[in-house]
Amino acid sequence: MDGNGRWAQSRGLPRIKGHEQGSQAVGECVEGCLESGVEFLTLYAFSSENWKRPAAEIQGLMLLLERFLEQKTRQMIDKGIRLRAIGRLDELPAPCRDRLERSIAATAAGSRLTLTLALSYSGRAEIVDAVRAIVREARATPALTEDQITPELIGAHLYTHDLPDPDLLIRTSGELRLSNFLLWQLSYTEIHVTPKFWPDFTRADLADALADYARRHRRFGGV
Ligand code: IPE
Ligand code: MG
Repeated sequence: MDGNGRWAQSRGLPRIKGHEQGSQAVGECVEGCLESGVEFLTLYAFSSENWKRPAAEIQGLMLLLERFLEQKTRQMIDKGIRLRAIGRLDELPAPCRDRLERSIAATAAGSRLTLTLALSYSGRAEIVDAVRAIVREARATPALTEDQITPELIGAHLYTHDLPDPDLLIRTSGELRLSNFLLWQLSYTEIHVTPKFWPDFTRADLADALADYARRHRRFGGV
C-alpha cells in the first residue's frame, strides 16, 4: 500500500492525512475482493524498515491501525472476513497488539475472505525465523535429517504456512521493487503495477488489476 505520503504531499497535507486516506482505501479494496470472489488478501501495512521513520509518524500509524480495527471488527464478522496478521508482531506497541489479537479472535470463524495484515514484516526476517524454528526442531528431533529440508518444510514454517502463495501482487505508486515483501511466496506471482497512489486506489482499479491478471499465461517455468 504505497504512496500515502506522496498523496498527502501533492495536496500540501501532512503525511498522516495520507495514511488516514489510505486506511479508507483498505475498506474499498476489501469490498472489491468480496465482490470479485477473491478469497485471500494480504496487505503490506508496516514493514520492519518502517521503524526507521520519525516517531510521530509511527505513532500515528499505530493509532490508525487501532482505530481501524475498533471500527471495522464488527463489519468484518458480519461480512465473513477472517483477520490474520504476519510479521514480528511482538514488536508492535502493546495496545496495538492487544487490539489486533482481539480482532483476530473475534473474526476467526470468517470463511469468505482471509484478510492478512503484514505488520512489522520483512520477507528476510520471516525466512530467518523459519530457519531458526527448523533448527530448534532439529535439535529436539534428531531424526530430522538434511534431506528432509524441502520447500514444503520451509513453507510450513513461514508466517504464511496456512495461506496459498499469492497469484497476483499489486504494487501502487509506480514503484518497481518488492521491498522485502513475501520474498519466498512471490516466486511465481504475477505483478501488476499501477501509478496510482494507494489512497486513490478504488475497487475499479482492483477490477483492472484482476482483468490484467486474467490475461496472463502462467507457465510456472514450463512451456
Ligand atoms: C505507504 O505509504 C504506507 C506505509 C508505509 C505505512 P508511504 O508512507 O510509504 O508513502 P510514500 O512512499 O512516502 O509516498
Ligand atoms: Mg513508500
